[in-house]
Parts: sequence; C-alpha cells; structure tokens
Amino acid sequence: MAHQITLIPGDGIGPEVAAATVQAVEATGVQVEWEVVPAGAAAFAETGQVLPDSVLESLARTRVGLKGPVTTPVGAGHPSVNVALRKKLDLYVNFRPVRMLAGLPTRYQGVHIDLILFRENTEDLYSGLEHEVVPGVVESLKVITRVASLRIARATFEYARRHGRRKVTAVHKANIMKMSDGLFLRCCREVAAEFPEIEYRELIVDNACMQLVMHPENFDLLVMPNLYGDIVSDLTAGLVGGLGIVPGANLGERHAVFEAVHGSAPDIVGKGLANPTALMQSAVLMLEHLGECEASRRLQQAIEGVFAEGACLTVDVGGSASTGQFTEAVIRRVKSA
Ligand code: NAI
Repeated sequence: MAHQITLIPGDGIGPEVAAATVQAVEATGVQVEWEVVPAGAAAFAETGQVLPDSVLESLARTRVGLKGPVTTPVGAGHPSVNVALRKKLDLYVNFRPVRMLAGLPTRYQGVHIDLILFRENTEDLYSGLEHEVVPGVVESLKVITRVASLRIARATFEYARRHGRRKVTAVHKANIMKMSDGLFLRCCREVAAEFPEIEYRELIVDNACMQLVMHPENFDLLVMPNLYGDIVSDLTAGLVGGLGIVPGANLGERHAVFEAVHGSAPDIVGKGLANPTALMQSAVLMLEHLGECEASRRLQQAIEGVFAEGACLTVDVGGSASTGQFTEAVIRRVKSA
C-alpha cells in the first residue's frame, strides 16, 4: 500500500529542493501518494493564510510530512509558520544529525564529526509572547517548563540508549538565566540519573559554540532549549559543509515532519543553485520512520556515492552542477543499487 505523505513545498528554494527530493524518493520504488499543500508566503498570497487549515487537516490524516523551508519576514509581518506548526502538532523534538559526507571537503579534514542536536521545539523565547511596555521598551517572554524540558531530555537519553551513543551534553545559560535555564538543567540531570551508562555533562552555550568549533569530535548528543538549538544547529551545519547538507526532523507523539535545517535562501531562488542534499537526507530519515529501511539506506548510499565521486556537486559545496544535475546523479545511483 502507498504511504500517504503531506508535502509542503514551501517558499524560495523550497519547491526546487522538494521536487528533487520527491524524485529521489520515488526512484527508490517506495510507493507514495503525496498530498501537496501550500504554507508560508506563497500560501498567504494564494489563500490569505500562512498556515492554511488544509495543512493541518492533511497532517492529521497522514501523520507524516516532508516540508520545504518557508519565509518568515524579519521584524514585522506574519508569525513563523514553522513555530506555529511545531506548536499546533506538539512536535516537541527537533532532531538534527550532523555527519560528514565522505568526499566533501570541509575545514575539518581528518576529524570525525558525528553529532546529533536535540532541540526543544515548542517553547523558550519562541513562545512569541512579546509586548511593548511603553514606547521604546519591549518585553519578550522566555518560557521554560518542567514538562517540555523533561520530555526533550528523555527523548535524547532514550535515543542514546537505543543507538548505543555514549555521551549527552546539555547546553544552557543557567549562569545568567538561573530560573529558566536552571529548570531546564535540573530536568536534564533528573533524566540523566536514570541513564547511568551514558556520560552526562553541561556546557554554557557560548563555551559550547567555541568547543564545537575547536573540537567537534568531542561531541556526541547535545540537548538544548529552542533558541540555542536554532543557532547551534546552523553552527554545526557549517562544520560539515554548510546548510545545504544537514537534515532534520520534527517529532511528536503522533506526527513527524521532516525538513532541512536551512531556510528559503532568497538569494539563490530559481538559479539552479539550491543543494537538495539536506532535504534528501531528511527524506532518508522519513523513509526510516516509515519502516522503509532498505529504501532509506539505498537513498543515503546514493547521496554519499555522489559526494564520494565528487564529479556532480552543487556550487555551495564547491562543485558546478545544477540542482537538476545533482538530482539526476543521485537517482541514477538509487536505481542502480
Ligand atoms: P537560509 O538558510 O535561507 O540561507 C542562508 C545562506 O545559506 C544563504 O546564502 C543561502 O543561499 C545558503 N543556503 C541555504 N540553503 C541552501 C541550499 N539548500 N543550497 C545552497 N545554499 C543554501 O537563511 P536566511 O537567509 O537567514 O533565511 C531566509 C528565510 O528562510 C527567512 O525568511 C527565514 O525566516 C527562513 N527560514 C526558514 C526555515 C524553515 O522553514 N525551516 C529555517 C531557517 C530560515
């Protein structure tokens, strides 16, 4: 039976990388019925809503989504679709694996980077609770709860135990935000105590950034509140070749939405410069989630094969191939595997 999957192409380069990823998934032979629904600036132009009801209705049915990036205006305009979607579906785990791809030169040649960020996805400063106290003074509320902190910590440690990972680092700023990040840390410690076989340590976020740049090989799993996770995941993407590479998943109890870490990249829209690897690797995670493990492995190996060969890479990672040429190279390998 075909899998039903909600496909949100998104804005900017979203439709380009989404089309490439759909082709790559279909090349595996897995049967998929895509329910294509609009969200973001494009949806607003069409329907007057950035997150039309059709998106939530479709995800309520399919429970699995593949999502391109959506544009969020800076400083004014409509609120973030991503934040709304994550909150509405309670997608509390933002899962971001960061691994080197063989064949892709990075600044860290000879260093083994294989880390996973677990970002709390539903609260913190992303609660969107902002108001003007008096003209010239604005307050933005950082919300940290015990429930949300415990469940992201638990998701991290359970993943570590299931996959034989050795170390969890909690990232915080509890030296300054003693109450909010202090609560987050206490929850991490509480959960860590239930997993004595897994090494647990804590790092202040600024030091964590420096350590990640200096010694990325020392990190395994990282767990952190929403804002630090947003920033640190772009940093870690930079360690392994940039935003065009790194996949992600937003996971809740009932729903899973797979998306790249990167945004809508307005600077390269329509030029054939978008690297679809990040969304393709998100689809690798999606296929695994669907139980299509063989197809997932084949797609991952095809992507890695194209990188190892190095002849058909996109411009952001030092090649000269277009989005379409890279996609064709991946599809050829998926089909011949
Ligand atoms: P961005 O990630 O869109 O772009 C940053 C830089 O990386 C740009 O130079 C871009 O060309 C490059 N880049 C990103 N993805 C690439 C890819 N697949 N292939 C080749 N190059 C790539 O970040 P920016 O410019 O800060 O944000 C643009 C818009 O995207 C904003 O409206 C932002 O709110 C939104 N955004 C959406 C996200 C999502 O929907 N999940 C995540 C991050 C940002």
